[in-house]
Amino acid sequence: STEVDLTPVEAGQAITVMWRGAPVFIRHRTTEEIMEARKVDVAELRDPQTDEERVKKEQWLVMVGICTHLGCVPLGQKPSDVKGEYGGWFCPCHGSHYDTSGRIRKGPAPKNLVVPEYEFTTDTTVRIG
Ligand code: FES
Repeated sequence: STEVDLTPVEAGQAITVMWRGAPVFIRHRTTEEIMEARKVDVAELRDPQTDEERVKKEQWLVMVGICTHLGCVPLGQKPSDVKGEYGGWFCPCHGSHYDTSGRIRKGPAPKNLVVPEYEFTTDTTVRIG
């Protein structure tokens, strides 16, 4: 498992940490991003999951950063990155768009970005795995 100190990560920022050889995306979501994720009609989603099911603390989204289509690493972590039509992540390989909860919204990917096992060991420390 990997422990990550989230103290330096401000709202609107994201970091990538490596866990078991895979990138894990951690985004400190803004209030707007959380609201966007929660106003979606879950019944319309390809892989129906509420935002609440995908997070332990609403401001922190933790996911394996591997596109569920063919395994590329989507863009959206850097401020300058394209984030796709739903403001989350965009996989340019074949054009998969993920929303601010990491759910697949458009393009060929069949599933939402995977949420790994993790827990908060303090208010600002997360242990992945
Ligand atoms: Fe992401 Fe194909 S690998 S869209």
